[in-house]
Amino acid sequence: MSEKFENLSRLVDARKTGEDDFEKTLRPKRLSEFIGQRKIVENLAVFIESSKLQKKPLDHVLLAGPPGLGKTTLAYIIANELGVNLKVTSAPVIEKTGDLASILTALEENDVLFIDEIHRLSPAVEEILYPAMEDRAIDIIIGQGMAAKSIRIHLAPFTLIGATTRTGLLTGALRDRFGIPLRLNYYEIEDLKEIALRTAKILNIEITLDAAEEIARRSRRTPRIINRLIKRVTDFAVVQGEKKINLEIARFALGKLDIDNLGLDEMDRTILSAIISKYNGGPVGVKTIAISVGEEIDTLEDFYEPFLVQAGLLKRTSRGRVATRLAYEHLGFQYTPTFETEGIRDLFDQEE
Ligand SMILES: Nc1ncnc2c1ncn2[C@@H]1O[C@H](COP(=O)(O)OP(=O)(O)O)[C@@H](O)[C@H]1O
Ligand SMILES: [Mg+2]
Repeated sequence: MSEKFENLSRLVDARKTGEDDFEKTLRPKRLSEFIGQRKIVENLAVFIESSKLQKKPLDHVLLAGPPGLGKTTLAYIIANELGVNLKVTSAPVIEKTGDLASILTALEENDVLFIDEIHRLSPAVEEILYPAMEDRAIDIIIGQGMAAKSIRIHLAPFTLIGATTRTGLLTGALRDRFGIPLRLNYYEIEDLKEIALRTAKILNIEITLDAAEEIARRSRRTPRIINRLIKRVTDFAVVQGEKKINLEIARFALGKLDIDNLGLDEMDRTILSAIISKYNGGPVGVKTIAISVGEEIDTLEDFYEPFLVQAGLLKRTSRGRVATRLAYEHLGFQYTPTFETEGIRDLFDQEE
């Protein structure tokens, strides 16, 4: 799966696509520079301050939310604000229990260990984390058969920061061991606008306020995407010999990039059209949709669906996905709800 992730380099794809250097230059380093997510930022500031005053490691932090909202950025910021070292790894590369054991035993006092995509740890590796998080110890088995014995190794006090796109995939046992669970939400337009202005400044391009707002509106409410859009729109401005991104250039460029006024790209529209025209608006299972549009189920669930749901275009019900009236209108379909879709809306209007 991760290979596929790297091959995809679609513009509004919020997952990383190897633009690491670009992202690094744009990454805020202090909590005070982190735009939006105010509640989370305010609370974190208190927890960090308290941990410093008490000279104790920060409680373990879980960062959950769709790709591109700032989970990795926050992990770096937390370590920076605490003034400690950050060790970075990700679940898919921790294959064996021994891999995690050696990472944990190498930690120094108050270090922060960041495990990205933590929902992808194997059960055996996850078992090692429990005592590590709770008792700062790991139990390892030495020898084999009758001679095998378990020895306990004590670890330095440390903070684990886990990031996940899907809390639903995390085991309850792991989730419960995080003292500070934080859920990042899609950004407000005002905040995205501020991010756009900041990014343009760093990229050394001027941008008008209305252009910043237009790009903000079409950025899937996601910082990673707005940053990418600013970069691409800058290309159009430069080629046209403009020193400033104005509304006209922004609209022209976004049009060329096939991003519509709700910020949907071609795949979003394909997904909604399929549900409407092939399955009468739903309910239809996510597997069926995935096959019908030729996309991976994981990609649909991690990336496309959360945004379509928050934009009010799609509903997740216990019996499948349903296109909303807004989806019909946006794509220019006549709204003709079937008995079943109406029933789902009115009677079974529940989240999966
Ligand atoms: N609140 C924010 N303010 C400014 N830039 C942000 C913010 N959140 C994310 N970014 C930028 O968006 C990009 C993606 O953020 P990242 O932390 O890698 O997301 P995630 O780990 O959740 O996928 C980074 O370049 C980062 O600088
Ligand atoms: Mg990340």
